[in-house]
Amino acid sequence: MDRIVITGGAPLNGTIPIFGAKNSALKLQAAALLSADPVMLENMPDLADTRFMAQLLNTLGVEITWIKETHTLRMHAAEIVSTIAPYDQVRKMRASFNVLGPLLARAGHATVSLPGGCAIGARPVDLHLKAFEAMGADIVIEQGYVKAAALRGLKGAEIDFPFVSVGATEHAMLAAVLAHGDTVLKNTAREPEIIDLADCLNAMGAKVEGAGTSEIRIKGVAKLSGVKHPVVADRIEAGTYAMAAAAAGGNVLLSGARFEHLGAMLKFLRDAGVRVEAEGRGIRVQRKLTDRMNAVDFETEPFPGFPTDLQAQAMALMCMADGVSRIKETIFENRFMHAPELARLGAKIEVHGNEAVVTGVPKLVGAPVMATDLRASVSLVVAGLAAEGETTVNRVYHLDRGFEKLEAKLQACGAQIVREREDQAA
Ligand code: UD1
Repeated sequence: MDRIVITGGAPLNGTIPIFGAKNSALKLQAAALLSADPVMLENMPDLADTRFMAQLLNTLGVEITWIKETHTLRMHAAEIVSTIAPYDQVRKMRASFNVLGPLLARAGHATVSLPGGCAIGARPVDLHLKAFEAMGADIVIEQGYVKAAALRGLKGAEIDFPFVSVGATEHAMLAAVLAHGDTVLKNTAREPEIIDLADCLNAMGAKVEGAGTSEIRIKGVAKLSGVKHPVVADRIEAGTYAMAAAAAGGNVLLSGARFEHLGAMLKFLRDAGVRVEAEGRGIRVQRKLTDRMNAVDFETEPFPGFPTDLQAQAMALMCMADGVSRIKETIFENRFMHAPELARLGAKIEVHGNEAVVTGVPKLVGAPVMATDLRASVSLVVAGLAAEGETTVNRVYHLDRGFEKLEAKLQACGAQIVREREDQAA
């Protein structure tokens, strides 16, 4: 398995381009199943997860063309040849479950493996299934598979989610656009990726209103057309590099990052004493190495609150801050697996249930560490950039799921970071 070796202490100076959002791209890819015409996604991130989704779509009958030079993915679902998403494919990447709604809406039936547990907690899909049932689908769960059918088509419905779920909001949208009649979704998630999905669906001829608020209204249409749509900038990638610049010190422009999508995180950085400002089409992040960061308390929340996907990276910063910071994770259970790994670098962290208390230390010292999930592993890179000496991050395949050209982007700003391939690392 590849590993990443970082020699900490080099400040970051330069420009980091922010690519399209993985979490948006995956749902936009699923939307390609809704039309018999080609769907072209521009600013497409080339990641293990988006490649994987493309492979799954291909097995369902979608013709796939990656146009590398222009970061475009062309998907053409002229005909759906299979409505089965097998265990091996859904198990590897949870977002593959999102093909269920579009298949149900377009083909009238689908058999999709349940995603199962995952490293950051149980993550059930009950809200997704309740939404499809409300739209008239018959659903049975057999041998680990969801078998869903709406042979005469889905019907519009009023669905009031008991709590906010990004995935269930998006999945219900992906099905309701082709349902007969009107759907009202209440208590919806408000993430920028949901607005991106609505924009793409509307450009395909759907009638979606209210994305970005807690009520989304959809008028079903009989058919959707093709589209060319740019994937929204990845706020989690941008936030991660902002944390990296804060950890290592220096002056970095995150080009393409959307200031308005990162409010809670930018406030956190400002409170910590990091300079952040909008600059042109990007965000500039600056920190003088001589100034120690302040400890800041925060808790994760649905958008526009502090994103759970940046919690690990922010914890890495707080390990070096002046004082004690209290961190509460309210979205996922068991999302502090990076804490013992950060402790290997000398961090002082106590975890009690969904709260972590971090007592900042003046410096971290490099060590071998193990990546446990996507965001946890990048927090170890953030910490490693600031730690004295060498940090080796093992199991980096997690990073490849969500960060394109991570080492190259950091190297270009002066970081000492290299990937050792499996054969070299053995
Ligand atoms: C998405 C993101 C993930 C991010 C998360 C929260 C993608 C591919 N992933 O995940 O990176 O961390 O939003 O911003 O976009 N839940 C249920 N039943 C359901 C659905 C969810 O109990 O049917 C629970 C989950 O277990 C979790 C909470 O609701 O505790 C929120 O999860 P959700 O917003 O659905 O996250 P995902 O869409 O899985």
